[in-house]
Amino acid sequence: MTTRSASLRVGVLASGRGSNLKALLDATRAPGYPARIVVVISDRERAPALDHAAGAGVAGVFLDPKAFGGRVAYDTALLTCLDAHGVELVCLAGFMRILGPGFVQRLHGRLLNIHPSLLPAFPGLHAQEQALEHGVKIAGATVHFVDEGVDSGPIVAQAGVPVHHDDTEESLSARILAEEHRLYPDVVRLFAEGRLRLAGRRVVVRAVAEGGGESVGEGDR
Ligand code: GRF
Repeated sequence: MTTRSASLRVGVLASGRGSNLKALLDATRAPGYPARIVVVISDRERAPALDHAAGAGVAGVFLDPKAFGGRVAYDTALLTCLDAHGVELVCLAGFMRILGPGFVQRLHGRLLNIHPSLLPAFPGLHAQEQALEHGVKIAGATVHFVDEGVDSGPIVAQAGVPVHHDDTEESLSARILAEEHRLYPDVVRLFAEGRLRLAGRRVVVRAVAEGGGESVGEGDR
């Protein structure tokens, strides 16, 4: 990946609550943050995520899946909208539609997702419930590049949280979500600073202080 413009143009796709979007919007307000969100697209008209966009003065677009003849046409509409806003990085933040291979390939290395588990454990829906049922002692969140599989792309950064014996899906989800809100803005910053490089299915994170030296896993906690 090459170094990008002074303030990276980010597009966010979100279907629901939008708390990760909100965390990203808040982070981009910090002086010197090297990215800004230029458009939020939702497949749900009343998604609270669109309210967060409006509150931050960011363009919010509802793209109705029913208005398009299938997934390919919908994905094309998404790409057209992202292109129209000059988006350089796309962040999935609770976007509940499966994106087709054409969309994913077009955005190779520029498409991130956040998932509420320590991947590759517990991909797919209800990751926190899966973690509780499995009895793991450490759960967490992962930010990864998106490939054509389900939550299977190269891992950029992870954050772990303890699982308590009396956790419910709600209490564990809340603990993980707090980490998500720190992790996603940190990863977007790394991307915007041109410090992420894909090497097969590994992501190399270049440390700033090392004057060009590289170390794997700098984004991990
Ligand atoms: C988060 O748990 C995220 O990890 C997952 O979907 C949820 C979205 O939550 N992909 P929010 O809409 O950002 O609040």
